[in-house]
Amino acid sequence: MKIEWKGREAINNIKAYSPGKAIAEVKKELGLDNVYKMASNENPLGPSPLAIESIKNNMANIHIYPDGSSLILKKELAIKNEIKVENIIVGNGSDEIIKLLGESFLEEGDTIIMGDPSFSEYDYIGNLMGAKVKKIPLVNFAFNLEDILDNLDDSVKIIALCNPNNPTGTVLGKEALIDFIDRIPENIIVVLDEAYKEYAGENFFSGINFVKEGKNNVLILNTFSKIYGLAALRVGYGIGSEPLISWITRAKEPFNVNVLAQVGAKAALNDVDHVKQSIELNLKGKEFLYKEFLARGFAYSESGANFIWVDIKHDSKKVFEGLLKKGVVIRPGNVFGANNHIRVTIDKPEINKYFIDMLDEVIREI
Ligand SMILES: Cc1ncc(COP(=O)(O)O)c(C=O)c1O
Repeated sequence: MKIEWKGREAINNIKAYSPGKAIAEVKKELGLDNVYKMASNENPLGPSPLAIESIKNNMANIHIYPDGSSLILKKELAIKNEIKVENIIVGNGSDEIIKLLGESFLEEGDTIIMGDPSFSEYDYIGNLMGAKVKKIPLVNFAFNLEDILDNLDDSVKIIALCNPNNPTGTVLGKEALIDFIDRIPENIIVVLDEAYKEYAGENFFSGINFVKEGKNNVLILNTFSKIYGLAALRVGYGIGSEPLISWITRAKEPFNVNVLAQVGAKAALNDVDHVKQSIELNLKGKEFLYKEFLARGFAYSESGANFIWVDIKHDSKKVFEGLLKKGVVIRPGNVFGANNHIRVTIDKPEINKYFIDMLDEVIREI
């Protein structure tokens, strides 16, 4: 007899994440020699050479379980961020920390508030834990903080703000953020997801300041997947008050971050040249793409990240499919509920140029 599987009630509301196709698969399917992935906001310069060297040097140690607390990496992060080791949790990507946060704090009857559109992982953990996900529409591509404040009630446990936001790239200013955090009751956790902060420029105001001031309810998320170019290794970290970090740590698997990820991240953190070059390349690419979009009358939102959210005035699904056939993978806006937008990762100059040429061709063909 065949068993009809039925999972937990909360799982009914979740569709398995459908990642973009792997480059090798796209090449094979479409018979293309080159495919440019401008869909996941990875670093076009690749990983830091120092990280590669460190990983190579540690390959012979993979028969030993990794340090479950990632202590050496945490010590390095503590020095760099001028905080204590106890304020840090390292995860298998920041995705894991988002999940641990949900597992630690959300249950049925609770609410998590996020922007719309914003990073889908917050939607996922809310649903996974059987909580309610309240999505507050963005205004002018940015979080509507007043609307979020108006939506607070006793059920709200977490507010998730990506700064810069994914997919719109918008950055929350210092005054607005300070005022917002001041008005949030201490029993609500505010996540400030700063996955792209290194691209946001010198005036960026990081939420780490709240943690240093002793705010109990602010969690900062960072990742090695973006500017540090280590997306495949899966390593990210959270910074928060000691009690908050210790609650989240309870939900953690014993050996969540592998040894190559730990040593690679530590080396990348100190590769100042790699970070500097990555920022410069991104700035150049951003200026080029802004100019090209303006010339075509495509409105974009100012981005503090390594991607641009742009209104291409045509059906994003068709544009996505057209570009894919020409070897360019972007993120169509329809997955974020914005049919005429796309999110495109800023790449190297020649690839940005190829993307624009192909975009013109695709739009002509639609
Ligand atoms: C805002 C934001 N947070 C977190 C992540 C996940 O990063 P990680 O690779 O560290 O899991 C991403 C990845 O796209 C992101 O855009």
